[in-house]
Amino acid sequence: ALVRRYKFVLRDSAHTRLCTNKTLLTINGQFPGPTIYARRGDLVIVDVYNRANHNITIHWHGVKMPRYPWADGPEFVTQCPISPGTKFSQRVVLSDEEGTLWWHAHSEWSRATVYGALIILPERKSSYPFPKPHAEVPLLLGEWWNSDVQEVMEEFLNSGGDPNVSDAFLINGQPGDLYPCSRQDTFKLTVEFGKTYLIRMVNAVMNNIMFFRIANHNMTVVGTDAAYTKQLNSDYIAISPGQTIDLLLEANQPPSHYYMASRVYASAGNFDNTTTTGILEYSGNYTAPSSPLLPTFPEFNDTMASINFTTQLRSLANEKYPIDVPLNITETLFFTLSINLRPCAGNSCVGPFQERFLASVNNLTLVLPRTDILQAYYRGINGVFETDFPDNPPFAFNYTQGFVPRDLWRPENGTDVNIIEYNSTVEIVFQGTNTVAGVDHPMHLHGYSFYVVGSGLGNFNRTRDPPNYNLVDPPLMETIAVPINGWTAIRFRADNPGVWFMHCHFERHVSWGMGMAFIVRNGRGPNARMLPPPPDMPRC
Ligand code: C2O
Ligand code: CU
Repeated sequence: ALVRRYKFVLRDSAHTRLCTNKTLLTINGQFPGPTIYARRGDLVIVDVYNRANHNITIHWHGVKMPRYPWADGPEFVTQCPISPGTKFSQRVVLSDEEGTLWWHAHSEWSRATVYGALIILPERKSSYPFPKPHAEVPLLLGEWWNSDVQEVMEEFLNSGGDPNVSDAFLINGQPGDLYPCSRQDTFKLTVEFGKTYLIRMVNAVMNNIMFFRIANHNMTVVGTDAAYTKQLNSDYIAISPGQTIDLLLEANQPPSHYYMASRVYASAGNFDNTTTTGILEYSGNYTAPSSPLLPTFPEFNDTMASINFTTQLRSLANEKYPIDVPLNITETLFFTLSINLRPCAGNSCVGPFQERFLASVNNLTLVLPRTDILQAYYRGINGVFETDFPDNPPFAFNYTQGFVPRDLWRPENGTDVNIIEYNSTVEIVFQGTNTVAGVDHPMHLHGYSFYVVGSGLGNFNRTRDPPNYNLVDPPLMETIAVPINGWTAIRFRADNPGVWFMHCHFERHVSWGMGMAFIVRNGRGPNARMLPPPPDMPRC
């Protein structure tokens, strides 16, 4: 294993898309940010300098950070922000992750422009569980706002309603030529007929699950969230924000130009109804059409198209890539995911009842503290968080039918953690609710990968559903979309002590409070204990 060192300088830099020139918060002036390359088991050290006038933290999305939550990144959960003019060196220890992950800012909404790919190759002399591709191509789905993202966020928080939507979706920072002024701003992938390409896709979009498709070409999924999957052939992809998908693309069609494109899957809320495109361009001599073929997409609200893709993912689960699904569960958690309304006053209210939206897990709306939870836990500082995050919602009801009386389901504000003993075997069933409106929730857990053992529509049923779990080859993931008015069950072994954030990866939902943290206690013996903090931890 090697040590790889990167320098990340947060600064403002000017960028133009859709004929709008503006200043973005970036790393090293790049948008999207720099790609980190490493091999399985390496140590990556990133020196983060803040030379902008916005607080920042950086999160290594999908990296387990073994026994070292100190550099994980979520602000006020595991660290105080890196303030302007200061620096933080983050040690990112890679363990069993192999494939595509990404890094992003984890401070307010700054991940809208501060993100990049983290590519983890197999160990030297080791190879992929599929034929070596001719070339590898990172493909990051992102967004462009003509207005300032900080202002979009502030307006959203003040409004009590949904946020403004972006002005364009992007493929590798480029909107593509269906948008105004964007002919030059189109991502192009040049391929040779007969060759196979590994596309490493990341969904860095703020608030939407995305469909992706390439005209006339099927794709073969080989991995997700830096774990290999059985090969899955599909003509479209559905990808949650936070999730990554590795896929093989065979350049096997008549040489020409073909559009690759991405657009929204949205079961509720406002959304940007535009299509971002890139061009798959075969090399060689031929007459290209003046406008390439555009792939067709499922309807924007086609929930089954999203579910059908995701539920086909399977772990490799073979001798070389064994799985380790916990079979005897010691911690059974049932977490409701709700959008809620709360009475409010003034102009930050929506609808005829003058209320504002918020969100909750088990009826608790997360309020981030002013000192990070990790530091308070480590140093025994009282008054920062409470330890009573419940294993179940306060009461049962028909979660998915809707029309819940308005005052029956008002969440409480809190900063509550759920404490888990070292080496517990944990099952979480996420239950989407229809208290105000049902919607998908791409849930993300820090510090772990988990097996997705089951999912379904409607209310989870403890007698009917567990016998149908897949305990043979469930996919290993760290972000999973819990379907609208449905449920998803995950399992993992709590062998990574620390403080770990869990939240919806829709930025609007986590801003409304859809998140919580786990404290996984130290176990016995030196290798089961959290490591001490580095000397340069940012201060609040
Ligand atoms: Cu990708 Cu808590 O984040
Ligand atoms: Cu959500």
